[in-house]
Amino acid sequence: MKPLREVYPNLRQRMFEVLEHGRRRDFVARVLDIFLVVLVLANVVIVIAQSVPEVSARHGTLLLVLDRLCVLVFAIEFAARVWVASEHPMLKGHSELGARLRFMGTPMMVVDALALLPWLLEVLFPSSVLAPLTRIVRLLKLARYSPALATMGRVVASEWRALLACVFILGSVMLIAAAVMFAVEGQRQPERLGDLPKAIWWSAAMLAKIGGGETEPVTTLGRLVAAITVMMGIFCFALPVAIIGRGFYEEIRRRDFVVTFAMVARVPLFTRLDAPAIADLVSILRARTVSAGTVIIRKGDPGDAMFFVASGKVEVATGSEVVRLTEGSFFGEMALLTREPRSATVTALASTDLLVLDVDDFLKLLDRLPTFKEQVEEIARERRAANVKQL
Ligand code: CMP
Repeated sequence: MKPLREVYPNLRQRMFEVLEHGRRRDFVARVLDIFLVVLVLANVVIVIAQSVPEVSARHGTLLLVLDRLCVLVFAIEFAARVWVASEHPMLKGHSELGARLRFMGTPMMVVDALALLPWLLEVLFPSSVLAPLTRIVRLLKLARYSPALATMGRVVASEWRALLACVFILGSVMLIAAAVMFAVEGQRQPERLGDLPKAIWWSAAMLAKIGGGETEPVTTLGRLVAAITVMMGIFCFALPVAIIGRGFYEEIRRRDFVVTFAMVARVPLFTRLDAPAIADLVSILRARTVSAGTVIIRKGDPGDAMFFVASGKVEVATGSEVVRLTEGSFFGEMALLTREPRSATVTALASTDLLVLDVDDFLKLLDRLPTFKEQVEEIARERRAANVKQL
């Protein structure tokens, strides 16, 4: 029998594309994604059902078999991801083993490994109460498929200063309210407000409005302090909610789909970039999906971004000629290079996924990546020459 690699020379490459979302709108990848998402959700339902004694008593065996099946699929998925790791553009230049080991250290692979951990825990420590808890970690596997989940971490990471300021404000308000209440009513209610830790517990409860009810202020001044504390509580909690909410909304708007490393590495203009440069691009490129007929660029408008076609096709109408651009091409670079108005109207011919590079990031990239600059300028020159010829 021939080895697998000879029968399917590109099998590993193909599997890499399917597993790591190298190509948008890949039918097989989509079916696999849906299957894995359903499996993760089903697994969480199984964990919840198993914790209910009546359900567990009646369907215990069935639930256990289903859970083991899920784990088996997750294990196969994990092994397949490790197998295709050497195809990862980020890991080119490493030995097969080196690439696999490095790949296993990436955040999503750690999550995948954690998804298998509960099974190991259950085998090693059958009576551990931690097992159901760790099984819920499998939900994190969804981060791979959900722009929303994937962006949550980014929002917290980018807003950490503001959030830290909120924690500082909340802590200060809590301490001040506790100190004031301790001074005002400490002697009147020694058992509840007689020392600072008790007063801090009271102020924390009042700020979060989770109670504090049994400690009623008995003086007018005390009631005033309590009222102000409750108001401050609303303010303190509204602030981080607003910060996260706004950041979340902006991130979601920026990304209609998750931009993956493999997706960026497939764009011909970027294939020769090194891994850190591609990783940088993954974080700055916005994802936008447009439906057929959408005018993406209008001739004469000022330029604010350039676009890469991740999937789909567009039509460039210069006035005298119509050119079609497909997956892997880019457009919208000319106005950014020359600071002149857009030279053509670009319309989506089908539902098209675009990677958008904003002008500021484009200019920074020109400085940072001389090869990128050369190639973009070269193509812009050719296009300009073609347009002049057409006139
Ligand atoms: P820009 O002028 O910013 O906006 C319109 C875009 O259409 C332009 O950048 C190019 O990216 C693209 N374009 C213009 N002329 C051609 C052409 N002849 N062939 C392919 N693309 C073109």
